[in-house]
Amino acid sequence: SSVTIPPPACMLLPLEVPNRYLFGPGPSNVPPRVLAAGGRPIIGHLHHEMYEIMNDIKKGIQYAFQTNNHMTLAMSGSGHAAMECAVFNVVEPGESVLVSVNGVWGERVAEIAERMGAKVHTLVKAPGGYFTNEEIEKALAKHKPVLFFLTHGESSAGLAHPIDGIGDLCRKYDCLLLVDSVASLGAAPLLMDQQKIDILYTGSQKALNAPPGTAPISFNDRACHKMFNRKTKPVSYLFDMTHLSNYWGNDGKPARDYHHTGPVSGFLALRESLAILAEKGLENSWRHHKEVAEYLWKGLEDLGLKLFIKDKDLRLPSVTTITIPDGYEWKELLAYMIKHHQLEMTGGLGPSIGMVIRVGLMGYNCSTSNADKALAALSDALKHCPKRKA
Ligand code: GLV
Repeated sequence: SSVTIPPPACMLLPLEVPNRYLFGPGPSNVPPRVLAAGGRPIIGHLHHEMYEIMNDIKKGIQYAFQTNNHMTLAMSGSGHAAMECAVFNVVEPGESVLVSVNGVWGERVAEIAERMGAKVHTLVKAPGGYFTNEEIEKALAKHKPVLFFLTHGESSAGLAHPIDGIGDLCRKYDCLLLVDSVASLGAAPLLMDQQKIDILYTGSQKALNAPPGTAPISFNDRACHKMFNRKTKPVSYLFDMTHLSNYWGNDGKPARDYHHTGPVSGFLALRESLAILAEKGLENSWRHHKEVAEYLWKGLEDLGLKLFIKDKDLRLPSVTTITIPDGYEWKELLAYMIKHHQLEMTGGLGPSIGMVIRVGLMGYNCSTSNADKALAALSDALKHCPKRKA
C-alpha cells in the first residue's frame, strides 16, 4: 500500500501572515510580551506548574471581574464557548429563559438556549437600543425565567448597556443574571459582585489583547446552586461544569482528573495579559479607554461622520460605531483601508450589517496615536472611494 494523495503544494510554501493594524472589534493586536508568553515551552496540561499558572489565571480573572467567586476559570475556546457553557449548565430543557436582543449576541444566546430545549422569550430592540429596568422587570414578572441574559458590551451596535439595579430585579424574581462582557471587559466599568451579576464571561482577544481561544467565566454561589443541583446532565460533555470545576481545582477534590487537554499556549498568553491589566490597574484602564474613545469620537465628527450611538454615556469605549456615510458603499471603504493602510475596521454584525462601520481601539491598541492612524485611513478612504448614490 502506498499513498495516493501527494503533499499539497501550498504546504511546501512558507507560512505568510501580514502585519496589520487590528482596529476592528477584535481580535486586537497582541503585544510582544503576550506573544512571547504564548511562545514559551509547552508543558503538560496536568503538570503541577500548569496548575499554578491556572491558579494565577483564576486570581487574575477575579481581579478583572471584581469578584470573590471561587467558581472562576477560563474556558478552552472563544467567548462562544463561555456563552454555551453558561446556558448549558444553568438551564435544563423546558425551563424558561429571557434574552434581551439588541444586537447579535442576544440572537446567539436565544438560539443556543432554544437548541438545548429551553423555552425562550426575547425582549427585542433595534441595534443601538437598550432596555430600561422597568421593561426588564415587566418581562421577568411575565415569563418567570430561570436565567436572564444581557450584553454589557454590544459590539455589533457599539452600546454599553447600563447594569445597575438589574441584579436586584433578578433576585426579586428568583432568576440568574448572565452578562456578556466580551467586548467591554477592561475597557468599561463593570463590577461583578457589587452589581450582583450571577454569571459573567468575557473573551481573551479584545481589551485583554491575548490571542483568541480562551474565555474567562465566573459563577457565583446562586449560579453554582442551580447548576450543581440539576436533574439532567448538561448536553455538552466538554462544557460540563462538574468536570471543568475539577479541572480548574475548584471542586475541593484532592486530585484533578483528566477531562480535556486545555490550550496550554493560550493559557500562558492569557496569564500574561491578565498580569498586564493587574499592573496597569482596572480603573486606569477604564479611564484610558474613555479618554482615547472621546478623542476618536471628536476626530470622527471633525471628519463629518455621524456616531451611531447618540448618547455619549451609552457608547462603548472599546468599539465605536459610525453610521455609514451617505452615498458610500461600506465594503469599499473597508477594502480601501486594508489595501492602502493595512488597517482593519469592520462593518456591522447580525442586525447591524449595512448600518455601521466599527472601529475598535482596545487595550494595547488604545492610544491617541492609533486613533490618529484610524482617522487618517478613514479620511483617505472617504476621499478615494467613489460615491455610489446621490
Ligand atoms: C465580534 O466579536 C464582533 O463584534 O465582531
